[in-house]
Amino acid sequence: MLINYLTTLFQKKRYYKAVSFFSFWDKYTSFSKSVYIGFGVRLGNAKIGNYSRVRQLSTIYYTEIGKFSGIGVNSRIGIGQHPLNLLSTNLIFYKKNQIKNSWVRNIDFQEYKPTKIGNDVWVGESVMILGGIKIGDGAVIAARSVVTKDVPPYAIVGGVPAKIIKYRFDQEIIKRLLEIQWWNWSESKIEKNIEIFTKENISLKDLEVFNFKKKIPKAKPFIQKSY
Ligand SMILES: CC(C)(COP(=O)(O)OP(=O)(O)OC[C@H]1O[C@@H](n2cnc3c(N)ncnc32)[C@H](O)[C@@H]1OP(=O)(O)O)[C@@H](O)C(=O)NCCC(=O)NCCS
Repeated sequence: MLINYLTTLFQKKRYYKAVSFFSFWDKYTSFSKSVYIGFGVRLGNAKIGNYSRVRQLSTIYYTEIGKFSGIGVNSRIGIGQHPLNLLSTNLIFYKKNQIKNSWVRNIDFQEYKPTKIGNDVWVGESVMILGGIKIGDGAVIAARSVVTKDVPPYAIVGGVPAKIIKYRFDQEIIKRLLEIQWWNWSESKIEKNIEIFTKENISLKDLEVFNFKKKIPKAKPFIQKSY
C-alpha cells in the first residue's frame, strides 16, 4: 500500500513537473503535462486543457476547462445540488452514505451537472461556480464571486450572485477574437505572433493580419493519465 502510494507520488513528479505532489484526482480526470496544478487541489471527473492553471486548494468536479485558463486559489467549481422538491434535502434518503443506508431509495436526480469553462478564462480567488454553468471564452470572474448563471465570452462578472460588470473589449473585437481562437494556434504560430500577447488595447487593425478564412486546427485530445 505504502509502496504503491510512494510510486504514484514519484510518477506524478516525474511526468507532471508542474503538478503538486499533494494534489488529488480520480480516474475520470484527465490533463496533459502542460498544466499547473497546485497544492491541495482536488479534481473529480475534470478535464483541464493545456497551459491552464489550477491554484492551490481549489476543487473542481464534473467540469471541462479549456486552454490557457486560470483558476484562483481556493475556488470551488461544479458544486453539486440536493433535491429541493422532496420532504427532505438530506442525502440519507437517496444516496449511499456513512451514517445509515437502509433508508436509501432510488430517485431520479442529477447531483452534479456538467460545467464548462472556456479558453483564456480567469477565475479569481475564492470563487464559487455552481454545477451546470457555462463560462464563455475570455471571461473574468472577480474574486469571491458566486456564479449562478452562464457568463458570456469576454465578460467580467463579479459579486454574489455574479453580475456583468463590463466587457474586456468592445463587441467587434470580441467577435474577431472568437473567430481567431488564438488558443487553438500551434506553439510555433504563438511564437511567431508573440508580440500581440503583450500589446495593450488591441485594435481591430491589430487583428486584421490574421486570416479568418483559414480552417482552425482541431484541438489535440487530452492525454488520459490517472493513478
Ligand atoms: C474583476 C477585477 C479583475 C476587476 O478589475 P478592474 O477592471 O480594475 O475593476 P474596478 O476595480 O475598476 O471595478 C469595477 C467595478 O467592479 C466592482 N468589483 C471589482 N471587484 C469585484 C469583486 N471581486 N466582486 C464584486 N464586484 C467587484 C467594483 O466595485 C466596481 O464597481 P462600480 O463600477 O460599481 O464602482 C478585479 O476586481 C478582481 O476581482 N480580480 C481578481 C483578483 C484575484 O482573485 N487575484 C488572485 C490571483 S489569481
